[in-house]
Amino acid sequence: VKTVLLLLFSLLLFAHEPITPIPQTIAFDQHKAALGKKLFEDTSLSSDGTVACVTCHQYDHGGAQASRFSPGVQGQLGGMNTPTVFNAIFNFRQFWNGRAKNLHEQADGPIHNPIEMDMNKKSIEKVLKASPYYQKHFKQIYQRAPSYNDMKDAIVEFEKALITPNSLFDQYLRNEKPLPPQAMQGYQLFKTFGCVTCHNGVNVGGNSYQKFGLINAFSAQQQSDDRYKVTNKPQDKHVYKVPSLRNIALTSPYFHDGSAATLRDAIKQMSYHNIGVQVDPNEVELLVAFLKTLTGEQPTFLDQE
Ligand code: HEC
Ligand code: HEC
Repeated sequence: VKTVLLLLFSLLLFAHEPITPIPQTIAFDQHKAALGKKLFEDTSLSSDGTVACVTCHQYDHGGAQASRFSPGVQGQLGGMNTPTVFNAIFNFRQFWNGRAKNLHEQADGPIHNPIEMDMNKKSIEKVLKASPYYQKHFKQIYQRAPSYNDMKDAIVEFEKALITPNSLFDQYLRNEKPLPPQAMQGYQLFKTFGCVTCHNGVNVGGNSYQKFGLINAFSAQQQSDDRYKVTNKPQDKHVYKVPSLRNIALTSPYFHDGSAATLRDAIKQMSYHNIGVQVDPNEVELLVAFLKTLTGEQPTFLDQE
């Protein structure tokens, strides 16, 4: 409820801008989040003991993966690029195609996925119960033996701690700092080109489904999990949740299939496919200058231990 109130409050305050600042803090349980961090980083929660959430969601890569596809158990590769977990709490749905309605539901995905962590409720609970550390901490926090559901709850509390406030752009929105001229021009372009019609709100995305290739079709090299996979409606082919552009300068490569290696490449492709504009090199640089101002303070909770 607190999060919702904070969001509503900032919507009112910044009603004249299509993008709103990330709140400085949101409510979460410190103890659960600390336990959640351990779980997030624990490779023993995968069938071959090599993969943890953090294997694919790297703290020093903006919460995403540096490679195009992420290696799961037995080194197997999935077919989707790993999005960031930072600020994921602000997304209206989870996954590229929105198939999970919240973070709690999302966590079932990687745990059960045979090429990610390849576990299930039973095998997870076996690992948790065999660990004196987890026995002790689950007991302290949840007053009962470790369970699959409480594990997800702790991970979600940790994910709430992974927000990145106080980017230069947010400081600009709060009238605390001016934007450098290049970034300001880039922001103007972002609005006049219409990027902002899809990338807006607190996450500069993450709040609607849109087609990749709205104006000029994007020829996907392989099958992927688009909205169509969820709804079976033909109009949902090549439709994805609009990704957040928060910390976008840190999270290369880009797009659901990781096909754009650099931010410049992603901007050129997006302009061509989704607004039908061939941007010139100068415009690309201005947009990059703007997008770089969306890099926030990296989650302070990560420095606590
Ligand atoms: C093997 C790599 C891998 C592992 C391990 C992994 N993830 Fe992911 N994660 C991904 C990929 C790839 C996606 C996107 C899949 C899709 O959308 O179809 C994703 C999506 C997500 C999302 C949705 C973000 C968004 O914007 O929609 C969240 C949140 C997330 N993962 C959290 C976790 C948590 C929590 C764990 C551990 C329980 C975990 N991940 C383990 C690769 C991984
Ligand atoms: C019609 C809606 C729409 C418009 C307009 C739009 N985008 Fe996007 N954008 C998307 C969608 C959907 C994706 C995800 C595409 C995919 O990976 O399948 C995306 C992805 C991106 C990405 C990659 C994000 C990531 O994490 O991989 C960047 C960068 C981006 N857009 C920038 C822009 C810029 C700059 C503009 C304006 C020139 C723009 N977008 C206009 C919908 C839009």
